[in-house]
Amino acid sequence: MTWVNSDGRRHHKSKPIPNRTLPVMAESGDGEIAGTPVQELVLNPQNVPKNYIYEEGGSGFRDALLPSQDDDIPVLDLHRLSSPFTAQQELVKLHHALHSWGCFQAINHGMESSFLDKVREVSKQFFELPKEEKKKYAREPNDIEGYGNDIIYSKQQRLDWTDRVYLKVLPEDQRQFKFWPQSPNDFRSTVLQYTESLRLLSEVILKAMAKSLNLEENSFLNETGERSSMFLRFNYYPPCPIPDHVLGVKPHADGSTITFLLQDKEVEGLQVLKDDQWFKVPIIPNALLINVGDQIEIMSNGIFRSPVHRVVINKEKERLTAAMFCSPDPEKVIKPLDKLVDETRPILYRPVKNYVEIYFQYYQQGKRPMEASKI
Ligand code: OGA
Ligand code: NI
Repeated sequence: MTWVNSDGRRHHKSKPIPNRTLPVMAESGDGEIAGTPVQELVLNPQNVPKNYIYEEGGSGFRDALLPSQDDDIPVLDLHRLSSPFTAQQELVKLHHALHSWGCFQAINHGMESSFLDKVREVSKQFFELPKEEKKKYAREPNDIEGYGNDIIYSKQQRLDWTDRVYLKVLPEDQRQFKFWPQSPNDFRSTVLQYTESLRLLSEVILKAMAKSLNLEENSFLNETGERSSMFLRFNYYPPCPIPDHVLGVKPHADGSTITFLLQDKEVEGLQVLKDDQWFKVPIIPNALLINVGDQIEIMSNGIFRSPVHRVVINKEKERLTAAMFCSPDPEKVIKPLDKLVDETRPILYRPVKNYVEIYFQYYQQGKRPMEASKI
């Protein structure tokens, strides 16, 4: 994928941004581990490379709170959203969910649990393949599409304890099939079907989001364009011998418009930051977690919140998830919708274009790319 290229750094030089989420960096390792799948590092538990370790304040990653009953991560029934009798009530819930948490768990989304199991299964089967087989789909240096782990931009960088398969699944003419695993043999067909289901669902959600703001239902869709993209990322988090000092994914907010996360069915790990406090995202079997990304925060002029989240890992158990990131056509300029700007609600964000391109560079330095857009 071409959204991170070698000149991405330019953005950082020309516009230094405040460093808000970055913890103090540990010294980097000797560079040899670059490109080694995390899955293989696990074979040598005494020797977790320094680039992964949070020495300071690392303990406590796993003692986040469970949301309380009266302020729980909202659960929305998408069936009720589409029925005329219940839609209005559900839209109010949606508005509240995206304003306060920036995310919700979607149930009754129309996908069979057996199909979601299939999506999990093809991913699991791929990560279980011998390394030579997986390497056939390896990402290229400085590019993100394919199989691999973090791109290393600097020696200071703290790495995520995860291996991934990253695929641009839409628009269709931008699919690079050389990165799409051919084994297991139903990997591709499953990904295609999952993509189509989520493409349709993303339209439903973006329309509902507009309606919940009393806007015409296509208000967001018109801005993202006919050639909006979707990126699918399968995340594999191997067990880690020192889970209090390593993160599966460091704190970040997504650069998407919205993200669909299919969680592991048994192993928790995702945490969301709200009111400066980390909360565990509970597992609801067969729900999809839907969260706002930075580009909807911008378009909604801050009414919907792109939540900071992170992933903690586990000493004994592996965890697998699948994240689908929706993103506008990179040619489109993204800015707060006119109707959401007035004297009482001044414009909060500058226009951005091809936001995902700058996103990863910032992310890997522990910074929020959103800072580049805030006025
Ligand atoms: C991501 C992400 C969460 C998870 O991929 O951006 O936040 O639980 N993943 O895997
Ligand atoms: Ni994320």
